[in-house]
Amino acid sequence: MRRPIIAGNWKMNTVPSSAAVLAENVKSNLSNCSWADIAVFPPYVGLTTVVAALKGSDIIVGGQNLFWEKEGAFTGAISAGMLAESGCRSVIIGHSERRTYFGETDERVNKKITAALAVGLNPIVCVGETLEQREADIAEEIIRRQVEDGLADHDDLKNITVAYEPVWAIGTGKNASPEQAGEIHFFIRNLVAQRWGKAAANEIRILYGGSVNPGNAAALAKNDDIDGFLIGGASLKADSFHQIALSVK
Ligand code: 13P
Repeated sequence: MRRPIIAGNWKMNTVPSSAAVLAENVKSNLSNCSWADIAVFPPYVGLTTVVAALKGSDIIVGGQNLFWEKEGAFTGAISAGMLAESGCRSVIIGHSERRTYFGETDERVNKKITAALAVGLNPIVCVGETLEQREADIAEEIIRRQVEDGLADHDDLKNITVAYEPVWAIGTGKNASPEQAGEIHFFIRNLVAQRWGKAAANEIRILYGGSVNPGNAAALAKNDDIDGFLIGGASLKADSFHQIALSVK
């Protein structure tokens, strides 16, 4: 059985002081969780206070993005090594908000994964179609390209997690139904089986993200191909994050 992951993407929310308070509250509910890996992804400037607040628990802290170069004249960028040194063990790569607002491409995703793995960060690689693409019946084609090109240089998927986040479901309050999500998760797992082999497909954890909340998580979690959640809005409240974690128990 794959161990579920419950991951909170805090996006551009919290300042270091409020991030520490949220982390403390997450810790008091979910420290050393026996049934799932728990991860939080604060803004860069909150990383060190969150790492300090979570000390003594096994909750994973990660970055929301990185740049693939090690160091140098790249104003505003953060390297994989900087995240690792700050106490991160994971990183989100290719989030649709990065793709939409910051020009992220599958080629860049591929390079960023290489940089993350090189310093021991486990990436969560996001894929997902827009509403127009779903309506044009090309969702699978889009996701196939994002998976195949994004993971192109990677023969070993052992430390990589995929998150299916349909763009139309992110922050809209309109989650994919368990059937819709299950269909795409099954598609991604088959894709992995074809390109990386059956063992890799059985092992890889595929998360669902997009308007997950305490009311819809249990129904989504029932699907065998859904291995946990990448949660935005509902991860900003320790209580709803905890409720969602309980749904995969
Ligand atoms: P919401 O849960 O707010 O829809 O955000 C999902 C997401 O983008 C997580 O990365």
